[in-house]
Amino acid sequence: MRIGILTGGGDCPGLNAVIRAITRKGLQEGDNILGILHGWKGMITGQHEELTQRSVSGLIHRGGTILHTSRTNPFKEEGGGEKVIATFKRLGLDALIAIGGEDTLGVAHRLYKEYDMPVVGVPKTIDNDLSGTDVTFGFDTAVSIATEAIDRLHTTAESHDRVMVVEVMGRHAGWIAVHSGMAGGADVILIPEKPFDLDEVSEAIRSRHARGKSFSIVVVAEGAKLDHKNIEGLVKQTEDLDEFGHVRLGGIGHFLANAIEERTGFETRVTVLGHVQRGGSPTAHDRILATLFGIRAHDLVRMGRFGKMSAIVNGRIGEVTLQEAIKELKTVDMELFKMAAIFSG
Ligand code: F6P
Repeated sequence: MRIGILTGGGDCPGLNAVIRAITRKGLQEGDNILGILHGWKGMITGQHEELTQRSVSGLIHRGGTILHTSRTNPFKEEGGGEKVIATFKRLGLDALIAIGGEDTLGVAHRLYKEYDMPVVGVPKTIDNDLSGTDVTFGFDTAVSIATEAIDRLHTTAESHDRVMVVEVMGRHAGWIAVHSGMAGGADVILIPEKPFDLDEVSEAIRSRHARGKSFSIVVVAEGAKLDHKNIEGLVKQTEDLDEFGHVRLGGIGHFLANAIEERTGFETRVTVLGHVQRGGSPTAHDRILATLFGIRAHDLVRMGRFGKMSAIVNGRIGEVTLQEAIKELKTVDMELFKMAAIFSG
């Protein structure tokens, strides 16, 4: 078969491991593998390169994506769907594997449903917010990076008797904040799923310091929101929306740090981890997960099971429909958040 692979949306550690797995398995079974460049944009322009044993060698530990990525939504342009289909035919493809999050896979699902395109998905995102799979690859790496940062901030916070606010990514889901906050022993964890009150946060820090602690660590998800008693809404970097209608989040950490310092009088500093969470090598866990996802995606193509996504279902590699994967954002399990809150303050 002639199989195309593309990576779309924000990059994420483990993308190259998926590309390697699909290519190695495909070549072993006599397939031709084409790397489509720059995500869905490449399915409009036709930019691609042949993937060979050589081009995917030495890739498993490399972050980023050799295929490059973009946040292009082909349905934003007139006749975009038809253009993708035309490229698919022009390149002589029999199937396409789209590696991405809710946006990339949302496009894949539409192409499958509306144009009958033979497409299979692989769940990628550091945010871990895709339905239908227990976990996405990239998440474990982002959590490990954030946890290491929190560990490091502990020692400097303690030395200076400061409050340290750490802003982590995750968009509208608090998975990275809860996992890294729990693993790093944060004193306050703030997530989008539970709007917070500035007075309560300040009080938690004050009472902790009244018990003799001289420093505190606050982990805040970039999408965390103040509740209605304060200013409603998200802190954004810009009012512009991307092609999928998303705002660019960021800035809640600085806002929170100022408010905490003002209310408590404790010296406070901010660290915004930003894209560091997406860069560099994937963890061993993500390398294996990405490899399993890639192998399964290739199996799905070979079996003609299109409109599906490889997934971890109840701890085992399996598959779900793309529809199931994109039906809703998978937000933080509030039972887990309650457990994390046992260690707050
Ligand atoms: O979806 C992954 C993610 O890193 C989010 O956590 C974050 O809000 C967004 O992408 C940042 O996007 P960009 O790379 O376009 O700045």
